[in-house]
Parts: sequence; C-alpha cells; structure tokens
Amino acid sequence: MSNQRVTTAYFREAKKTGRKITMLTAYDYPMARMVDEAGIDAILVGDSLGNAVLGYDSTIPVTMDDMVHHIKAVTRGVKRAMVVGDLPFLSYHISREEALRNAGRILQEGGAQAVKLEGGQEVAETIRAMVSCGIPVMGHLGLTPQSIHQMGGYRVQGKDEAQAKKLLEDARAIQEAGVFAIVLECVPVPLAKLLTETLEVCTIGIGAGPYCNGQVLVTHDLLGMFMGKSPRFAKRYANLHEEIARALQAYREEVQSGAFPGPEHGFDMPGEVLSKLY
Ligand code: KIV
Repeated sequence: MSNQRVTTAYFREAKKTGRKITMLTAYDYPMARMVDEAGIDAILVGDSLGNAVLGYDSTIPVTMDDMVHHIKAVTRGVKRAMVVGDLPFLSYHISREEALRNAGRILQEGGAQAVKLEGGQEVAETIRAMVSCGIPVMGHLGLTPQSIHQMGGYRVQGKDEAQAKKLLEDARAIQEAGVFAIVLECVPVPLAKLLTETLEVCTIGIGAGPYCNGQVLVTHDLLGMFMGKSPRFAKRYANLHEEIARALQAYREEVQSGAFPGPEHGFDMPGEVLSKLY
C-alpha cells in the first residue's frame, strides 16, 4: 500500500477498478493515528462525536467549534487517510455565505481534506457553491441523523416506492452538484445496489449492504466501546468496554490493597540526602 495521501482521485479510481474504500470515524489524536496506521482509506470526524464522545443523545447539539476542535486533533495524527469533517446541524442551512465559511473552517482551521453534509436536492446548490470554491464534498443520504426529529426515529429509509424514488433523485442531484462520494445510511440492500450501479461516484454504505463501493462504521461501535446496544448493522470486532471496565476495577482493587504501586513503579534517592531530611 502506498503512503501517498488518499485524495478524491483515489475515490474515482476505486469506482473504476472496484477496489473497496474503507472508512471509519475518529474524534481524537490517538484513535486517528491507530486508524491511519491500520491503512484505512478515509477518516470521518463525524458529528456522531455528539453520541460517541460528548455524551449527547443525538448529533443535534454538536457545534462548529466542537467539530473544528476534534478535527484538529484528528488531522495531527493522520498521514495517509483522507480526513473528512462533518458539517454539523444547521451549519450549512442559514445562508450560502455561512455554509461556505463553515466548510472553509473545516479545511482551513481543522486541516481536513473534505467536508460531509446531509441531504439531497435541498442542499444541491450549497454543495455546488462549496465545490466551486475547491472544497471536496461527500454527501449523506438515507437515514440522516440531523433530521431525526423529522424522520421520527432511527429507521431504514427508502423502503416504499415514493421514498426510494426520492432517494434516487436526491443522489442524482447531489452527484450533479459535484459530490465525490455519497454515504448511504440504513438503505435497503437492493436500493443501495441500484444506486451503486447507476451513480458515477462512490457509494459508502453504513447499514446499506455489501454492494456499495465502500463501507464506513463508527469506530466506537466496531470496538465495542459503547455501554448500550449498537445498531444491528455495526459489527463488533472487539469488546473494549468490558476490557476497560476490567482494567479499571483491577486498578481500584490494587490501590486499595496496596499491591499498586510496586517497587518497580517508584524512584529512589541517595540515602545520605534522605538522612539529612530527618
Ligand atoms: O457522524 C457520523 O459518524 C456519520 C456516519 C454514521 C456516516 O455520519
């Protein structure tokens, strides 16, 4: 694998060759380094930051300042992967100027190489404006968590004819506006397959089946770092919550019993210095 930075050209090439794109989330420096060193192609500093790290029960409270702070930490740890920074709730809706300024902050202050935003036809002109300023944009369709109150819950999107047709139209509209890839979240497998076959840009699935051009997961789900239940589509590759709980309890017990710290954890001083202190 080459050490060269992953760019939008890498995504275009992957669409042609069929090479699968790998993408994971990270919100801080150590995790970003580990994900990058594992050879993952793209790191999403998602607004899932709200649920995964900041203790909110949705992505709605996450602000631009929260995003920029965490994107900066991530970009300091990454050499090869493309870093994609999420535009949070309402940061690209109020006016075109505000949307451009916020997208610009993600690249200029955060150091990311691309931004991601949710929505279809209604955000197509905003996407076009960003792309015309040289900002690579990743789209996000299907279940869009910033509209959770409108959608009425975390549900699969595009199951009926009207919803499926709308999704196809949204995907074409944002492709035409210039996105270089589209995240498809919680979309039925056959619809994600159709979108992947008909779009010219890469589809990156999360709960959208195996036919997408790439896959993304929230790293905290993959590592089993959440205390609650993870979504059905999030395969667990480790159970770090249990492992961390075990280590913390062992520390507590060893401090209470006096087993920690041992002689190997302390520092001595010359006896003649010590004797002068008594
Ligand atoms: O914020 C996020 O982590 C995301 C992924 C679920 C795609 O948008």
